[in-house]
Amino acid sequence: MEKWISLIITITLLHSSSNQQNNYGCSYETLLTNEKQIICINISSTFLQYFNINLNRSRWFTCKSCNLSTITTNTFNFPKNSIHFLILTDNNISSISNQSFAKLPFLKILSLRRNVIKTINKNTFDGIPKLLQLDLSKNLLEDLQEETFINLENLDILNLNQNYIYSVHANAFDGLTNLKYLYLNDNRITGLNGNMFQRLTNLKILYLENNVIEEIHTWAFNGLYNLNYLYLNNNSISALVQYNFKHLTNLVDLQLRRNHLTFIDTSTFNGLKNIKYLYLGENQLDTIRSYGLIGLNSLEIIDFIGNNFENFSMSYFKNMESLNVLWLENNSINNFIISPNSDIQKSLRIINLERNSLQNVNYKLLHKKVPNLDQFWIGGNNWTCDFIIEMHDYFYNENVTVCTNKSCTKEAVKDYIETICFEPYENETELVDYVTDCTNNNGINSCVFFVVFILVIDCVASTSL
Ligand SMILES: *[C@@H]1O[C@H](CO)[C@@H](O)[C@H](O)[C@H]1NC(C)=O
Ligand SMILES: *[C@@H]1O[C@H](CO)[C@@H](O)[C@H](O)[C@H]1NC(C)=O
Ligand SMILES: *[C@@H]1O[C@H](CO)[C@@H](O)[C@H](O)[C@H]1NC(C)=O
Ligand SMILES: *[C@@H]1O[C@H](CO)[C@@H](O)[C@H](O)[C@H]1NC(C)=O
Ligand SMILES: *[C@@H]1O[C@H](CO)[C@@H](O)[C@H](O)[C@H]1NC(C)=O
Ligand SMILES: *[C@@H]1O[C@H](CO)[C@@H](O)[C@H](O)[C@H]1NC(C)=O
Ligand SMILES: *[C@@H]1O[C@H](CO)[C@@H](O)[C@H](O)[C@H]1NC(C)=O
Ligand SMILES: *[C@@H]1O[C@H](CO)[C@@H](O)[C@H](O)[C@H]1NC(C)=O
Ligand SMILES: *[C@@H]1O[C@H](CO)[C@@H](O)[C@H](O)[C@H]1NC(C)=O
Ligand SMILES: *[C@@H]1O[C@H](CO)[C@@H](O)[C@H](O)[C@H]1NC(C)=O
Ligand SMILES: *[C@@H]1O[C@H](CO)[C@@H](O)[C@H](O)[C@H]1NC(C)=O
Ligand SMILES: *[C@@H]1O[C@H](CO)[C@@H](O)[C@H](O)[C@H]1NC(C)=O
Repeated sequence: MEKWISLIITITLLHSSSNQQNNYGCSYETLLTNEKQIICINISSTFLQYFNINLNRSRWFTCKSCNLSTITTNTFNFPKNSIHFLILTDNNISSISNQSFAKLPFLKILSLRRNVIKTINKNTFDGIPKLLQLDLSKNLLEDLQEETFINLENLDILNLNQNYIYSVHANAFDGLTNLKYLYLNDNRITGLNGNMFQRLTNLKILYLENNVIEEIHTWAFNGLYNLNYLYLNNNSISALVQYNFKHLTNLVDLQLRRNHLTFIDTSTFNGLKNIKYLYLGENQLDTIRSYGLIGLNSLEIIDFIGNNFENFSMSYFKNMESLNVLWLENNSINNFIISPNSDIQKSLRIINLERNSLQNVNYKLLHKKVPNLDQFWIGGNNWTCDFIIEMHDYFYNENVTVCTNKSCTKEAVKDYIETICFEPYENETELVDYVTDCTNNNGINSCVFFVVFILVIDCVASTSL
């Protein structure tokens, strides 16, 4: 209590003479954890230089709506302290002098989010070797110089999202041997150079979304042998080279949605021996060269949604014994090729072919090659009435669920079949009524048989006229 009072006195002494009207200064606040934090509101760098209180009591220090502008070695020139968390979000910080935080040796978390910092260098973060998390997101950084983070050997999380970074020195990340999460989303990176992450041997997650990456050097990911997740969505990658990801032997999830890929070259993904999820949606893929998917032996889910495939062959999936889900919706597939000598995919359970241009599929051979097929999604295609009824009945008897338009209910499939089979007979209400009736009794299967029968009669009648 005494110390609290002395803090108030300090503030009053410092600022009462200048402007009593304003709401600014520092005080203690109790956190939910019952810890005290020091919170300063609307103060300047200069204010902190004359800040003279016992800091032992708090591990938290937050500045809110402050105008810290320039941080120098004088700003946090605090006596011996145990500040662990320094939160300087939204403080109009534009420059940080070398060693500015060196008097805070116990610092673990430093947030500099939403400031206007343009440059940092290898001496900016001197003297805070215990730092675990550094947040520099939403600043104005453009380049990362060599060894910028060299003294942060315990850093776990580095957040550089939403800057203007276009240039990364080859040794920029040197020293970050314990880094686990690196965020570089929403920057202006145009390419990934060889060895640029090579010291990040403990990195688990690398975010590079929403940049303008066009090329990835074959050695870009060298050293990242512990990486599990790599996010490259929404970039400008138009081609990947052979063995592009060969160093990522522990990668589990690779996301390349919303890029400009048009084909997959031989052995592009070879080396990704632990990968489970591969997302290639919203590219312009129309070709997979031979052995294009080779090496993906642990793959469970593959996403090709929203590409330009016209021909798609099940033989791409050679030796994929864990493949479980195949997403192919929203392409232009009119030829879904199942070859009599392609592999049997025992693990494959879900195939989604919604919104393509298919008129038919060799469904019996498909079922032979995919014996455990559980859900087959067929909506939004160009099936003929006869074909879809035959295919539906076959799968119905084989206990494969036919799904359409986000639903696997019998009603949804029935509606879809009706749109295909009844469109020309729209105004013949008796027929529709009859269909509704028969569904109530025996389910769609018998109903569909009946419909075919009626249609055939109808057809014969109309051609004979
Ligand atoms: C912050 O302090 C300055 C003077 O240092 C004053 O002009 C301003 O009105 C204060 N802003 C707020 C939000 O209190
Ligand atoms: C703060 O704590 C340290 C030890 O943790 C001690 O040496 C120092 O005297 C304390 N300072 C004050 C002002 O209490
Ligand atoms: C913020 O600090 C800078 C540098 O100390 C000063 O030039 C500027 O006037 C301050 N802005 C406000 C709004 O107080
Ligand atoms: C931010 O700092 C600059 C000087 O670096 C100053 O001109 C400006 O007034 C400050 N803005 C605010 C909102 O304090
Ligand atoms: C700060 O550190 C950088 C990088 O080591 C160095 O180039 C620069 O001269 C230093 N600035 C000052 C003012 O010492
Ligand atoms: C994709 O990235 C660009 C910047 O390269 C950004 O402007 C756009 O909002 C991002 N799109 C999405 C859907 O995130
Ligand atoms: C299908 O993909 C195209 C681009 O290929 C996209 O514009 C459209 O929104 C997608 N439609 C759906 C329903 O996902
Ligand atoms: C699909 O196959 C047909 C016939 O084999 C061929 O003419 C067409 O060019 C192929 N489409 C693509 C996009 O490769
Ligand atoms: C659907 O098939 C008909 C021929 O039966 C063809 O004329 C039409 O272009 C096809 N539509 C699409 C979207 O493939
Ligand atoms: C489909 O399931 C039913 C009931 O669960 C079973 O009696 C029938 O043998 C199954 N048919 C096939 C082809 O597996
Ligand atoms: C899909 O289902 C929704 C209702 O769940 C329906 O409004 C929509 O018209 C259906 N679309 C097609 C193409 O059948
Ligand atoms: C079907 O009914 C609509 C109005 O519901 C009508 O405009 C249309 O001409 C009818 N078509 C036929 C072939 O009778």
